[in-house]
Amino acid sequence: MSKHLFTRRQLIVSTIPALAAAPLAGLGVAGVAQGQTSGHGDHGEADAAGAGIGHGAMIGEAVPAVGGPNDLDVLLYPPEALPHAPGRVREYELVASEGEWEVFPGIHFPAWMYNGTVPGPIVRATEGDLLRVRFANASRHPHTIHFHGIHPASMDGVFELVGPGESFTYEFPAGPYGMHLYHCHVSPIKKHIQKGLYGALIIDPPRPRPSAQELVMVMNGYDTDGDGANNFYSVNGRAFYHAKYPIRVRRSQTVRIYLANLTELDLINSFHLHGDMFRLYRTGTTDVHEYTDTVMLCQGERCILEIDFANTGHFMFHAHQSEFTDLGWTGFFEVVD
Ligand code: CU
Ligand code: CU
Repeated sequence: MSKHLFTRRQLIVSTIPALAAAPLAGLGVAGVAQGQTSGHGDHGEADAAGAGIGHGAMIGEAVPAVGGPNDLDVLLYPPEALPHAPGRVREYELVASEGEWEVFPGIHFPAWMYNGTVPGPIVRATEGDLLRVRFANASRHPHTIHFHGIHPASMDGVFELVGPGESFTYEFPAGPYGMHLYHCHVSPIKKHIQKGLYGALIIDPPRPRPSAQELVMVMNGYDTDGDGANNFYSVNGRAFYHAKYPIRVRRSQTVRIYLANLTELDLINSFHLHGDMFRLYRTGTTDVHEYTDTVMLCQGERCILEIDFANTGHFMFHAHQSEFTDLGWTGFFEVVD
């Protein structure tokens, strides 16, 4: 049976009957492919799935998610911020390739990747560093890297196509400080981004942010059956991953999340936190913040969140588009003393 055979609607619908008996078993690919349906109307089915999967039922080792507990650490935990030292060179190497990216057990997305992952690696520098990113294209299609932020037109990733087997070095002073991102900018752009060519770019302020437990979350989606709609959603690449493996944080220290939305095909995505509130710094470019528990981001938008957890325990975070939650964009913090 084809591994790309089912649609977004079938995935949601198929989870309902199985959930009644065993909350987690219904998410298996076999159950999905059998196309089980209940007798209810469309809205009833979606509501049932949301209530069953989205909240409470789905946490821990039994959750179907790809890989082991530390597989995505390199995409979750950013390298440390370095102190301000104008002119220091920060070097990164990104290689574009093609391959299968397992989004959900048994579901392999034919991805285009920077350094073999979706999203690509975290790039971090301090404002005033000279950021030097060597880009090599080991795929069969032309690609570029377009960074958000301030840089010369010649470093914008728009005019210089990097063909298969070619390379290009991007070099510019890092700035302004904030949470930024990068992505391929070759036409059709929608396809080149949707295939997985994007990642987080953190620029630290000259005066360092207070120390915190720092995390990066890149929100994305996958159209695994090619029908123009996403079938799965995630943070940092794998559906349900941090529901299976909650992110452990300490109550005593601020949790700082660098959040970016690289979802294609859906106009917006969002982050919602249970049981607490966060300071929201839009784009992270100023000290101005609001205090909320939900933030909505359009494509390419990003922000910095700071949480001071009041309580210990497991707290859910997920898209507040509940359908995205049901399709993989959900996780838990495990707050400990
Ligand atoms: Cu919720
Ligand atoms: Cu591209």
